[in-house]
Amino acid sequence: MKILIINGPNLNLLGVREPETYGSQSFDDYLNVLQEKFSLVEIDYFQSNSEGDLIDKIHEVGFSDYGIVLNAGAFTHTSLALSDAISAVKVPVVEVHISNVFKREPIRHHSFLSPVCAGVICGFGLDSYRLGIEALLNNKKVNNK
Ligand code: DQA
Repeated sequence: MKILIINGPNLNLLGVREPETYGSQSFDDYLNVLQEKFSLVEIDYFQSNSEGDLIDKIHEVGFSDYGIVLNAGAFTHTSLALSDAISAVKVPVVEVHISNVFKREPIRHHSFLSPVCAGVICGFGLDSYRLGIEALLNNKKVNNK
């Protein structure tokens, strides 16, 4: 299995955006760490601030041998269209969040994506992404279908 990490809106600003919530490491730096750690696995990365681009990317890889680690940012809490895109494809999708969304404002407690994802990891900082990758690689039965 290959891994595709997809980051949604505002996550291009990791490292400078609200560091007390999201940490001070840029995602590019963290991606290097992940790629070194999982050196035998292809780990690709896509980020967009646009809902449609995220949906297009899910469609593009959705019938391949990828597993997706998805942090949809605020679209998590708003996007039925992203939820439908995940439902439409065959590949497993793990929802991740850097912050513990359940410790935050009530509006962040609901996810349109969780019911259609294989599982959810949140609250471990950037390590949430590593845990998402481990879940995809370690569990052959991981499946959102
Ligand atoms: C986030 C949590 C969301 O509520 C927020 O809108 C984000 C980041 C996280 O990784 O903690 O943009 O997905």
